Amino acid sequence: MPPHTRPVFAANWKMNVGPTAAAAFVESFLAASPTPSNGTVILFPSALALATVRHALALRQDIRVGVQNIHAEEKGAFTGENSAIIAADAGAAYVLVGHSERRHVFGETDAETARKCARAVEHGLVPVLCVGETIEQRERGETEHVVLHQLRTGLSSLSHDAVADVIIAYEPVWAIGTGRTATPEDAAVVHRVIRAALVELVGEPGRGIPILYGGSVTPVNAAALLGADQVDGVLVGGASLDPASWAAICSAGTT
Ligand code: PGA
Repeated sequence: MPPHTRPVFAANWKMNVGPTAAAAFVESFLAASPTPSNGTVILFPSALALATVRHALALRQDIRVGVQNIHAEEKGAFTGENSAIIAADAGAAYVLVGHSERRHVFGETDAETARKCARAVEHGLVPVLCVGETIEQRERGETEHVVLHQLRTGLSSLSHDAVADVIIAYEPVWAIGTGRTATPEDAAVVHRVIRAALVELVGEPGRGIPILYGGSVTPVNAAALLGADQVDGVLVGGASLDPASWAAICSAGTT
């Protein structure tokens, strides 16, 4: 995997954009962004649209693709699930692990995120480990504790070398899909804590691990968030669904 030139712009389409819409999206996005970004652009479509997106991006190998989830097991009787092997075979290079919707809607535990990260690395996928506190946890002053616990547990099954190759996304749950964004300073405070923990875990290579911010990022606030200390990129849901808005975000912070 070529290195992740910063900033990293990651689009999480969640359960939106089927193959037909995905092909149209890529066409419009490429028209709006005809030259490669100075950063790294990664799209996370529905697994069913992955092949279409890859095909539509045949001439733009600079734009990378990933899946939104994998099962922790390698294969077997898990109806409806996708494995790391299947995702990699379908052309995914990345996988989101521990997104707050997986944790809070589907009950994914920290232990499962650790197993998924390990499985991803085993099969050549880069895990994007998502961490973040709920509003109740923030109000109780538990943000640092929650985020560090999710971070350390999620990475606990990886070797130091493998940790150095992951991406982390800090996504405060209260900012996801709510229109309520962390201020650049709110983000920087937590990103600094995450950076320190990564350096403590693996030493100097921990400084090179991209830490993305996610939660109601838009073309209006992207540049300010990207300017915050230790914010190396953004993970974007709602505002990545429109090609013009996504193209605007991908040009933020790269000039
Ligand atoms: P949002 O989602 O940009 O719609 O808040 C971000 C995410 O869930 O990754």
